[in-house]
Amino acid sequence: MAGLSGKRVLLVIGGGVAAYKTLDLIRRLRERGASVRGVLTRAGEQFVTPLSVASLSGAKVHQDLFSLTDEAEMGHIELSRDADLVVVAPATADLMAKLAHGLANDLASTLLLATDKKILLAPSMNLRMWLHPATQRNVALLKGDGVLFTGPDVGEMACGEYGPGRMSEPLAIVAAIEEALDHDTALPLPAGVGRPQPSGPLSGKRVLITSGPTHEPIDPVRYIANRSSGKQGHAIARAAAAAGAQVTLVSGPVTLADPQGVSTVHVETAREMRQAVEAALPADIFIAAAAVADWRAEGEAREKIKKGAKGPPVLALVENPDILATVSQMKKGRPPLVVGFAAETEKVVDHAKAKLARKGCDLIVANDVSPASGVMGGERNCVHLVTAKGVESWPEMDKDEVARRLVAHIVSLATKGKTKS
Ligand code: CTP
Repeated sequence: MAGLSGKRVLLVIGGGVAAYKTLDLIRRLRERGASVRGVLTRAGEQFVTPLSVASLSGAKVHQDLFSLTDEAEMGHIELSRDADLVVVAPATADLMAKLAHGLANDLASTLLLATDKKILLAPSMNLRMWLHPATQRNVALLKGDGVLFTGPDVGEMACGEYGPGRMSEPLAIVAAIEEALDHDTALPLPAGVGRPQPSGPLSGKRVLITSGPTHEPIDPVRYIANRSSGKQGHAIARAAAAAGAQVTLVSGPVTLADPQGVSTVHVETAREMRQAVEAALPADIFIAAAAVADWRAEGEAREKIKKGAKGPPVLALVENPDILATVSQMKKGRPPLVVGFAAETEKVVDHAKAKLARKGCDLIVANDVSPASGVMGGERNCVHLVTAKGVESWPEMDKDEVARRLVAHIVSLATKGKTKS
């Protein structure tokens, strides 16, 4: 199970007494590394306050469909899609009826129709409302549409009656969320709908790209990281998509927006990145632009490591999997073209040549990442293309320009055949 680390949950809180349990759900999700964006319905506001949802989620709470500031910051379509899963807890009879029949007259119901991700409902209502044929018809319709459910549980209700209708406990909802996220949560459009496949020299090609740093936890609050911003890898993803490729971007923690027209998978650690890369294969072209942390702490501490009489802790490190080498050396299903990066602070080309041979890739894009170069985190880059046949050095340019030229270069390699002699 991949877990919740780095996952993004859009949480719609409907109007039910169980909404107080949703506050605990937010805590449980966040302590497992997920981020939560809260949406509170008018009825939900009667049970929990926007302030408590915002404090616990650490993010703005969205309430209004027509809020101008929200639209300026993030429209409802974007909000509905900028998540890995949409969860409704408590899901009231009213919200379920709206979703079953396609009503969209407030922010929550609009998001539920507009999302391109799966929806998980945690129903909560009086037992007669739950058992009512109208609600049961809606449940059947929603299940037929692929909507996921957790609960309701059977038990004592706030109204004093006993039966089915209690919202699942927060940890049961967490388990249902983990289970849902273990599978693909994207909802594809029906065939023939959507933007026509862009044409271009990479049309029909599958390009898989890693980007950004990885974070390797030491304890629940500390991690090992590096200064990579992901700008170069994300720029390559945009350029490959613009060239017509079907692009999957596996991104470590970055502050950049997901590129348009690219399927982005968010990961945190090197091991998660390797898993996501393996899950995204096969590909025609693999480009490893991520600055993967070479080491992780052996055995992440479950609790925050405290200062004490024993003095500073000694961190034992273990080596992370080398994703580029793994893909380059695949016996079966190796992408026909594998491109690596080399981040060096000295002897840039020499180290890159050694890396090309050691990892077994077809091309290394070498760059100087010494602090004086300003490359890590900066807007510009100066690269050398190293292959078994030789070295091609490019002048310094914008990272977007490097990306466009690199994609053009890759197109010429892909059409001419590989560079290995
Ligand atoms: N890479 C990878 N997995 C790792 C480490 C690196 O996929 N665990 C990839 C990077 O994405 C990059 C290339 O390997 O494409 C080289 O990364 P770099 O950090 O320059 O080199 P390292 O392999 O880490 O070697 P060193 O630290 O000795 O320079």
